[in-house]
Amino acid sequence: MPVATIEWKGELPGAARLIDQTLLPGEVRYLELDRVEAMWEAIQVLRVRGAPAIGIAAGYGVVLGVQRFRGDDRAAFATEVARVAAYLRTSRPTAVNLFWALDRMERRAHADEGRSVADQQRGLLAEARAIEAEDRVMCRAIGRHGLALVRDGCVALTHCNAGGLATADYGTALAPFFAAHAAGRRFKVFADETRPLLQGARLTAWELQQAGIDVTLICDNMAAAAMREKKIDLVIVGADRIAANGDTANKIGTYGVAVLARHHNVPFYVAAPTSTFDRTLRDGTQIPIEERKSSEITHGFGRATAPDGVAVWNPAFDVTPRELIAGIITEHGLLERPDTRRIADHFATHTTPLDRHQGATA
Ligand code: MRU
Repeated sequence: MPVATIEWKGELPGAARLIDQTLLPGEVRYLELDRVEAMWEAIQVLRVRGAPAIGIAAGYGVVLGVQRFRGDDRAAFATEVARVAAYLRTSRPTAVNLFWALDRMERRAHADEGRSVADQQRGLLAEARAIEAEDRVMCRAIGRHGLALVRDGCVALTHCNAGGLATADYGTALAPFFAAHAAGRRFKVFADETRPLLQGARLTAWELQQAGIDVTLICDNMAAAAMREKKIDLVIVGADRIAANGDTANKIGTYGVAVLARHHNVPFYVAAPTSTFDRTLRDGTQIPIEERKSSEITHGFGRATAPDGVAVWNPAFDVTPRELIAGIITEHGLLERPDTRRIADHFATHTTPLDRHQGATA
């Protein structure tokens, strides 16, 4: 069973319950957040993280922000929804899921604007729950489509955490591994520790180990040696935002892994739902990349590991050019050798939950 990453508790007013990922794997602690400011902070400091989970958190964050609105002044309620969504938009810049989830919540409020405020509040909770429910379905579909890549006896490598902790179900990049494990296949996964915040060590290794999957932890700088000496057969990573041409932003270090994979002739796959595409961006140069505070590098986990005052560059993500990507596993199937035309075709032949929703409320 995947871990309960984030869910709504109670009705209205209620709370968002989430596992505090900053404490893992040492401590499994659930938080109940009942204010939007607490959700903003949880997203910012990565108590909840991973693109799909951030989208779900944003949906529940809007509910938290407006659930105590009293009275039936619909214009004032609409202003409040817009204010709360704008505030949540400032929490983290790269994962597109945050932005489409907030757009979607605002569209829901707009579609319901003729209803009472209480009805609109219920509608927003239903919308946030729908985002969570759709994410579960997308994870399972990605697992099914990625299953063929995880052959019996194969050795895979992943970077960061795109597992259950990053989604409402069992992940994107890790979904094919969970599906293959359920199908009785034997395989090994190498997990990059993922400096500086160690999502690979703290979260991916923990999740795979809990599931009984054969996982080996390596430092990021061991990936090249692992490819050569451990005969890595494939790489699967997640994504935070994919441009119209297939260039993919994911956790810092992903680009390096893709370059290494090309050198070693290892196929490099991205697993992500179609909701992670941002087709308003022509290519990866337009994806906003979050820069985080220097202390994550100089004082990782509380201990000084660099001289005081040293200059630091700490981008949280990088962009892997589409040429290095063998395929993107979406909830609809494997999109091989992504480029602008193939991605447009993929969208033209499949309806996404997002499209269906936009069609319903446009
Ligand atoms: O900074 P994080 O931990 O939110 O970064 C997460 C990643 O880069 C994941 O690989 C990505 O969001 C995909 S999660 C299914």
